[in-house]
Amino acid sequence: MIRREFTRRLVGGITSVALPWTYRMQATLRVDGSRLQAHLAALSEFGKNPGGGVSRVAYTEADRQARDAVTGWMREARLETAVDAAGNLIGRRAGREPSRKPLLIGSHIDSVPQGGNFDGDVGSVGAIEVARTLDAAGVTLRHPLEVVIFQNEEGGTTGSRAMAAGLTPAELERVAQSGMSIRDGIRFLGGDPDRLDSARRAPGDIAGYLELHIEQGGVLDDTTTPIGVVLGIVGIRHWDITITGFANHAGTTPMDRRKDALLTAARCIEAANRIVRSVPGRQVGTVGKLAVEPGAYNVIPGLVTFGLELRDLDDAKILRLYQRILAECRRIAALNGTALTSTETLAIAPALTDPGIRGVIAGAAQELGLRTIRLPSGAGHDAQEMARLGPVGMIFVPSVGGISHSPREYSRPGDIENGANVLLRTLLRLDATL
Ligand code: HGY
Ligand code: MN
Ligand code: MN
Repeated sequence: MIRREFTRRLVGGITSVALPWTYRMQATLRVDGSRLQAHLAALSEFGKNPGGGVSRVAYTEADRQARDAVTGWMREARLETAVDAAGNLIGRRAGREPSRKPLLIGSHIDSVPQGGNFDGDVGSVGAIEVARTLDAAGVTLRHPLEVVIFQNEEGGTTGSRAMAAGLTPAELERVAQSGMSIRDGIRFLGGDPDRLDSARRAPGDIAGYLELHIEQGGVLDDTTTPIGVVLGIVGIRHWDITITGFANHAGTTPMDRRKDALLTAARCIEAANRIVRSVPGRQVGTVGKLAVEPGAYNVIPGLVTFGLELRDLDDAKILRLYQRILAECRRIAALNGTALTSTETLAIAPALTDPGIRGVIAGAAQELGLRTIRLPSGAGHDAQEMARLGPVGMIFVPSVGGISHSPREYSRPGDIENGANVLLRTLLRLDATL
């Protein structure tokens, strides 16, 4: 008994000295900023738009070819690469203590149409760079490490939701931005939609998830703050609202005898904007999609569908706003002699980041001499799906001018390098203390 106690205390003593020493040695590690920039530049070639920026929409050739390049960079970082049944690209490295749950870092490389070269890319390339830096320094974490490139984040965090919650049959049939169904898109990327269960993870299956991302808003840039510690990620809900009127001759139909679907839609869109702005808070509402039929100068529109998006950290507030908008749109439709239907097409729950991980991120930034601000994310992220599986943290770097989802999206190389170093140091600290 005495012998065992002695051994326990000796090991405990060594560990209590070794861990801080190990961490101090590792704290000198830094990413290779020029390699980071080279990978970002190479990534920007896939789906490059002549006028700048990128259209690397999920489930397109550009997306698939970019994933092949990223797979190569993962292998250069000596990660074992695989595509899970949901089509997520994962690079794995064993930990010193294989019984521990993995630490995940990553983001996405698919973009919106006419998007920028930093949304998702910074976190994806940054995560690979962190793995490469650890490998080059001969550092093996206690936890298994997984670098994850989630598929179709822009289409509604599809890959991360498949991993954390599964996809419904209706979701698999939904047509993505590329025109392919989610089901076919998963197959296009090397996944198997008939075996999605094999990609599912349960709460507790991960030790934690960290995501480096551009802010996509202007808080950090406006305050010249290099690092944002994300408090939480907004919930997002989408609806397709369809107005049915009566297509008729534009020249012979008197103005008081029309059932103009587009007139109804226009008044509904204005009403939605007015209602969202009518209550205090950070909620936002957008109509970014509109389809008009038959779409001719000389025909009164008979059928119109527009896409409504609402976002807020509080899902109940989103639903209250939606009910007010729907009631007002129904009143407008009736006044114009048109019919209205509404179908919810996306529901992503808001998620708070882990307070402990927020502290580790802030501490890592401080050790690097970087000021931080704590702020919510108005953009959605894979981290909010990962929050179903375990504690998550997000690190923001500035978006110049707060511009994103635009060819003019830009983040400075120094800011990106800072963010990757905070990611590296946070990962090391979590690995040592979780
Ligand atoms: O739409 C978003 O908020 C994210 O950039 N996918
Ligand atoms: Mn993103
Ligand atoms: Mn985005």
